[in-house]
Amino acid sequence: MNIDKQIREGVQCLKNGGIVGFPTETVFGLGAKADDVDAVAKVYSVKSRPQGHPLILHLSKLDEASDWVEEIPRAAHKLAKAFWPGPLTLVLKAKSNVANHFSGNLETIAIRVPSHSIARALIIGLGSGIVAPSANRFGRLSPTSASDVFEELGGKVDLIIEAESCSIGIESTIVDLTEDRPVILRPGIIDQEKISMVLGEDVVERVSKTNKAPGSHPVHYAPNTPLTIVYRDQLEKFLHKDTNGLSVAVLGRSIRPQFSGAAVWQVAPTDSLPYAKNLYSLLRRLDNSGCELIAVEEPPYSGEWMAVHDRLKKSSIPKMALLEFIRNVKDKKLKNIHHGTNK
Ligand code: TXA
Ligand code: MG
Repeated sequence: MNIDKQIREGVQCLKNGGIVGFPTETVFGLGAKADDVDAVAKVYSVKSRPQGHPLILHLSKLDEASDWVEEIPRAAHKLAKAFWPGPLTLVLKAKSNVANHFSGNLETIAIRVPSHSIARALIIGLGSGIVAPSANRFGRLSPTSASDVFEELGGKVDLIIEAESCSIGIESTIVDLTEDRPVILRPGIIDQEKISMVLGEDVVERVSKTNKAPGSHPVHYAPNTPLTIVYRDQLEKFLHKDTNGLSVAVLGRSIRPQFSGAAVWQVAPTDSLPYAKNLYSLLRRLDNSGCELIAVEEPPYSGEWMAVHDRLKKSSIPKMALLEFIRNVKDKKLKNIHHGTNK
């Protein structure tokens, strides 16, 4: 369908209290009009998202933030000038009571000005901010295409805007500006170095487990199939020995070796930006391949890969759980052979 028509329908739907799946440059969001308490409640229920998890408010420019926040600090002006519109979210101190229905009882509010033309057209057409989490069920991979949104939420969404897939592919960087020093709560394509450079000070990433960004759970962004990250030089042993005959789908960094032992081998892009752009769609493909396990060949560790590492870590299961999973699948197969079902 024609894009302008879809945008008009999207705006109308949001005005009428509907929820809309729409593209941003990072991932697809599930939007509701920010001051529509019922529509926002629907976003939580459709995603099965716990109430304590705050949502990001999407605006068309920084000035609009003054309706929602106490003050716009200097650091916010600097970062907005450098990176907005774009894949950066800023956490600021909220005005009291304006955002209770989506701020998870925090006294802060996360704000982002997306650059995607459709996201911008929706916000401008609506004449109001849009709150939007990623348009996936709680704890699953973020969608990067309209068909992913359909796969995740299907008929529960009032409208899904069909558009090109997202150019960045992983969620925005989140920077908290409410404390003495700026802190990165979620790494993204706009990395620590770029943020530090613009602010003229060293900005750290929050490592503590006390959750400043609820929703940054240890396992988040997860496929249905258990996922593990394997060092390149251990991959062959892993596939031939450790997995005990399980069917494994590999997200490899190089072409498939001749006797790989993998059931499916998907080659990922070599550079960090195209890797990030394709990461969720490739994981979705491997998740749907029918294999019992996904193994991701570990990417490099230089700065530009940190956001990818963060998402892979949050998609993977802990080592002990992996060993138990492999043992259980094997036991089940043995039992089935015993009972003559052999499947
Ligand atoms: O790229 C993105 O940011 C995408 C697109 C759709 O804009 N949105 C997104 O939303 O990733 P969501 O809801 O899936 O993740 C938002 C993250 C959550 O981890 C949430 O806890 C955190 O932002 N967050 C929201 N408000 C916050 C606040 N006031 N303080 C700290 N963290 C906050
Ligand atoms: Mg999300």
